[in-house]
Amino acid sequence: MRNLIPSYIRVPLVFFIIFGLVEYFVDSGEEPAFIKYPIVLLFLLLVLLVLIAIEAIIGALENVMFQSLTEEGKARYMASKNKVPQFNWIKNLYKKLVGTKPIEEEHELILDHNYDGIKELDNSLPPWWLYSFYASIVFAAVYLINFHIFGNNSQYDELAEEYKKAEISIAEYKKNAKDLVDMNTVTLLTDAADLNSGKAIFMQNCIPCHMADGGGGIGPNLTDNHWILGGGIKNVFHTITEGGRDGKGMIAWKQNFKPSEIQQVASYVLSLQGTTPANPKAPQGDIIWPEENAQPTAEATTDSTTVVVDSIAPAPTN
Ligand code: HEC
Repeated sequence: MRNLIPSYIRVPLVFFIIFGLVEYFVDSGEEPAFIKYPIVLLFLLLVLLVLIAIEAIIGALENVMFQSLTEEGKARYMASKNKVPQFNWIKNLYKKLVGTKPIEEEHELILDHNYDGIKELDNSLPPWWLYSFYASIVFAAVYLINFHIFGNNSQYDELAEEYKKAEISIAEYKKNAKDLVDMNTVTLLTDAADLNSGKAIFMQNCIPCHMADGGGGIGPNLTDNHWILGGGIKNVFHTITEGGRDGKGMIAWKQNFKPSEIQQVASYVLSLQGTTPANPKAPQGDIIWPEENAQPTAEATTDSTTVVVDSIAPAPTN
């Protein structure tokens, strides 16, 4: 048995078995045990050293014993050693694959021309090469028929499939990354939870100028359908993010709030549409009724221009 497996296989094999056992029995969570507990690494190194030492000692002992044998004993020992298979099948396989003729048979191969003493051997192709070549011909035929004649699962199909997967994961990502909204992608939120968060932001930051009921003061009335800077979720989102016209008092809030929060407060502002505040400020700006909001009232339609949104209206310049 000992002679069956050479030491350069035996030592790593035993070592990895011990290594595997240690990893299996030492509970180290996600990390490998030898990283979590350096002492384990030390232990493994010791094991390796001991294994190598054992091999060296046995080798030396064998050598000493061999030297003490008589000539006849030595011969018998060598013979018994060579009888053991010793990976002969690997050696034979290798010989067959390489397919070289032993040097004694070379004269059979020699071609009968002679260039200033340089001769040529007519070696046949090494079998490993030849059979790989045949295999590649068969592979090419199967490939051609499968992908080009029957069009099975072509690269285009694979690409389309990967696109599909990527789109799904992008959608998944966007669902969780609410702060990716900008004024082009923003939508009106109608969830009570979102509107409540929007209301909280509004109450804390906006009422000094717009009043708690949105009736307006320093800032314009937010409950009517007149908008200076454009109505609809996109424009309102844009106004809150970037602020109003210079010097009017409406600052850009993008430093204070995340895009998702601005979306909430913008949705809350739009939910005030059509409510009746206690002291409404007179309407300012154009009448705008985005499709998603209430239709204009009869009284409102008599007023100035009417613009249907949802593109970004340029801020008026007065
Ligand atoms: C310091 C006072 C002030 C505060 C605080 C303030 N605003 Fe304004 N807001 C204004 C003024 C003034 C305007 C008009 C800007 C203009 O005419 O360009 C305005 C305009 C707006 C408009 C556009 C109205 C329209 O007719 O187009 C919206 C929407 C708005 N504010 C929402 C908010 C929200 C939401 C907050 C809180 C996060 C807020 N504002 C805080 C003063 C304020």
